[in-house]
Amino acid sequence: MDSTIRETPVEELIAGDAAIELESLAKEIHAYDIAYYQKDAPRVSDEYYDALKQRNIAIEARFPDRIRNDSPSNKVGASAAVGFSKVTHALPMLSLGNVFNEYEFNEFIEGVRRFLKELSDDSTLPLEIVAEPKIDGLSISLRYEKGVFVQAATRGDGTTGEDVTKNIETLKNLPKKLPAEVPDILEIRGEVYMSIKDFASLNITQKKLGEKVFSNPRNAAAGSLRQLDSAVAASRPLSFFAYALGQVSNDISKTHWGVLEKFKDWGFPVNTHSLLCSNTDSVMKFYKHLEIERQNLAYDIDGVVYKVNRLDYQERLGFVSRAPRWAIAHKFPAEKAVTIINSIDIQVGRTGSLTPVARLKPVMVGGVMVSNATLHNEDEIERKDVREGDTVIIQRAGDVIPQVVSVVIEKRPVESEVYLFPRVCPDCKSNAVREKGEARRRCIGGLVCPAQYVERLKHFVSRDALDIEGLGEKHIENFIKSGLIKTSADIFKLEDHVEEIFKKEGWGIKSVDKLLASIDDKRVVSLERFIYALGIPQVGQATSQLLAKQYGSLSVWCAAMQASKDNDSEEYSDLINIDGIGPSVARDLIEFFGEPHNKMVVAELEKQLSIENFIAPVIYDSALTGKSVVFTGTMSAMSRVEAKAKAESLGAIVAGSVSSKTDFVIIGDKAGSKAKRALELGVTCLSEQDWLNVIKQ
Ligand code: IVH
Repeated sequence: MDSTIRETPVEELIAGDAAIELESLAKEIHAYDIAYYQKDAPRVSDEYYDALKQRNIAIEARFPDRIRNDSPSNKVGASAAVGFSKVTHALPMLSLGNVFNEYEFNEFIEGVRRFLKELSDDSTLPLEIVAEPKIDGLSISLRYEKGVFVQAATRGDGTTGEDVTKNIETLKNLPKKLPAEVPDILEIRGEVYMSIKDFASLNITQKKLGEKVFSNPRNAAAGSLRQLDSAVAASRPLSFFAYALGQVSNDISKTHWGVLEKFKDWGFPVNTHSLLCSNTDSVMKFYKHLEIERQNLAYDIDGVVYKVNRLDYQERLGFVSRAPRWAIAHKFPAEKAVTIINSIDIQVGRTGSLTPVARLKPVMVGGVMVSNATLHNEDEIERKDVREGDTVIIQRAGDVIPQVVSVVIEKRPVESEVYLFPRVCPDCKSNAVREKGEARRRCIGGLVCPAQYVERLKHFVSRDALDIEGLGEKHIENFIKSGLIKTSADIFKLEDHVEEIFKKEGWGIKSVDKLLASIDDKRVVSLERFIYALGIPQVGQATSQLLAKQYGSLSVWCAAMQASKDNDSEEYSDLINIDGIGPSVARDLIEFFGEPHNKMVVAELEKQLSIENFIAPVIYDSALTGKSVVFTGTMSAMSRVEAKAKAESLGAIVAGSVSSKTDFVIIGDKAGSKAKRALELGVTCLSEQDWLNVIKQ
């Protein structure tokens, strides 16, 4: 709610009152700036904010000798433009895959051994693992050039982060200058976190100041790191643990453990609990020890991270999608709590699938207030016999959506009724049907179902898709309701509706400008992001990447998807031959392109956007760049997975079967029908030795 603008006309103010008013204006505007720019939570309308600023300027013009050092006029533009500038990471900042038990951990280790063929051939060869506490904070990359700290960047989407140098400069436990021996370019990666004690005292201060109280140390660390006012950030007690290398101009060790030792020598805080383990038993012992020790630590941890110690192994293992093959996180078991289900709601996803959600009496679970939990699907509700009004046990693990584990039957109200899963879509009232073999019931409303297009648009603008900042759920819903947008392409035409947006509550010049700028900012998009943003069922980030890589450009991809509807076509066989794409994903892709409306949206988007062709992440131009290769038989020097990963890192496309489009077939021991087919088609065949020579170049 806006307050009223001060009433005395500026011309009638006397100097003393002017000074008092300038002080209060400075305070008030500053508070609104914080709410708007740092918390993304505007407290007043733009009109009111602009009026305050105008009045401040007018008073200052009449009483120039009363202009304050902290005058909001000095911040004009600066405050509007502030935000963090973007930093492209020299090396991507990866995230980690998860395991939740010993069995999955052993699978991880076996996977590593299978990849590194010599380790699967000889099970007595050691595989050292470094086990480290998984700190519950935010990852950050610190860049030093010639030993001097030059930049700190958040992880962001892994490729681009935010420049938080100013805020990191204020961290007390970081060395400012490094010894002469450090490489000229050195990126240290690690976790910024807040200790439990610091978190508690920060909240006491926040409460006293009437400011936001944080729900857990991680949120407090995140909020503090993203403080735009570095003076405020400096007062926030953040700490850091170093745990990985980013870009580095020369090697500093042959092992990860050696890297950690160097970090310590150079003055970086390294977690003292980290342990070099020579076998899997000691790794598991470490996990169990830390699970108990956890409660005595001064900071929150949410699991253990395991890393292959040898850096040459790490290099060979590389990564899949965004996670390394040489490291994994082992999360601690989920935290549980008891609460009541107030109601069961049905959410309609972007593909029409109906998901039941339990609306809960809010409860704290592991430091986070939880008021919703997923019930997965119809069968799950039936199996657990979950009902509205039930007392239930819920659990929450890490970033995973809280789940309902079980019902406390003894507490069931006498009048409770079995929950009947709806047979119609709660949103558009179309039938909701369940195909044979499907776990989910789906609304068949398709294009007429508002819930589906709202969800599709939310997905379209989400971080891993088009990543349009400032166009949140509420705005999308509101714009759809008022007919401003219906399809994703309409988002890029919002600039034609500025007047209508202005008329909406909460929108003013600044906020509309900001929104249009962030939309404009995303008019250039990579093919893989674009494919992912379309929200085709089963086409997640990894599949989008595979498709972009295979087809290279939007037009080639679209044409191939159209042609694939004929199951006998070469295009169809090419599609299902992509390693990682099977008939089921192919069916969803074909269905998507079989729908005229979808084709129209893609065509519209093509007009609005510049969709960049796929650029293979080739380290250097190789004999394999852009070539289609097929492996057959067993090789002695490397495993099939390693061979495939190597070929891909050199820009090749690895296919599962031989066709006339195959450039090379690499023939190992005991090769079968694929070798025969290659000979028939006259495709170039390479022996294992030829292959090793090619990759050595
Ligand atoms: S290594 C490629 N080590 O966990 C390796 N990450 O869930 C990248 N994290 O984004 C990370 N403690 O923010 C690593 N000892 C540790 C860690 C750690 C906490 C965080 C990090 C990462 C997230 C993945």
